[in-house]
Amino acid sequence: MSAPAIATENLTRRFGQLLAVDHVNLSVAPGQFFGFLGPNGAGKSTTIKMLTGLLAPSEGRITILGTDLVADPVTVKRQIGVVPEGLALFGRLTGSEYLNFVGRMYGLDRKTAAQRAAELLDFMQLSDRPKALVTDYSHGMQKKLAMAAAVIHGPKILFLDEPFEGVDAIASGTLKAMLQRMIAHGATIFLTSHVLEIVERLCSHVAIIHQGRLVAQGSIDELRSGVEARVAGVGAGDGDAGARPHEKLTLEQIFLEIVGGARLTGQELTWLA
Ligand SMILES: Nc1ncnc2c1ncn2[C@@H]1O[C@H](COP(=O)(O)OP(=O)(O)O)[C@@H](O)[C@H]1O
Ligand SMILES: [Mg+2]
Repeated sequence: MSAPAIATENLTRRFGQLLAVDHVNLSVAPGQFFGFLGPNGAGKSTTIKMLTGLLAPSEGRITILGTDLVADPVTVKRQIGVVPEGLALFGRLTGSEYLNFVGRMYGLDRKTAAQRAAELLDFMQLSDRPKALVTDYSHGMQKKLAMAAAVIHGPKILFLDEPFEGVDAIASGTLKAMLQRMIAHGATIFLTSHVLEIVERLCSHVAIIHQGRLVAQGSIDELRSGVEARVAGVGAGDGDAGARPHEKLTLEQIFLEIVGGARLTGQELTWLA
């Protein structure tokens, strides 16, 4: 068996008294389209920053494609691409200049970098204003450019923190097309999101983090079976997942059942009417 694409052992991060990520054991197989789900503040960004070497863990171990991240960060960083929370682009460059720069930083020769930069700008539909500076790009354009930069060296694993946040439907479609293409070529994708519909449509496997702790991990079908069994065990109509018996639970229903706390019953806002 080949090594997992991503594996963590007791991955933990403290901020003072706060346990932002609490002994998380993740395993992502190569080629998986993996969604890392959780409510706001659950610990998703903190986890992805540790997985990509942007933030040191307080405790625990991270292995990427069989390499220990702390022991050999350079080997890991050559093989991964990252679209971080804050994008971290250079505003005073054009999109083309930026992609060429990133390509060269990854060690591509000048010609290859230029060729890939041009192809990526076309694919992302960012070619029509070649003189525009990144700082003048819309948010959606910046996200597309960040994804282009993250894939220019042909990474085996792509990490994305909330890639569709604040992006319109057209740009989202382009981003998704790029992700599907990467998966078709055998890459592994790890994305965080608090938007369940996106994860349900794209991902084959998910993990759910809540208050820093991993509360579920597996294929969406596995999670569904687990919740259905639990709801059935509680007694018909007693579970809060809210689906009728013959309907397949949506990821949203699975999520609410596992994470709880967000149920609408009994929480009427009386002053609204
Ligand atoms: N640099 C930091 N210093 C202090 N607390 C932080 C820092 N980064 C994140 N946190 C806290 O850690 C928790 C998890 O944050 P984060 O990983 O950003 O959540 P998510 O991405 O799931 O919304 C939150 O309570 C957040 O306020
Ligand atoms: Mg976040």
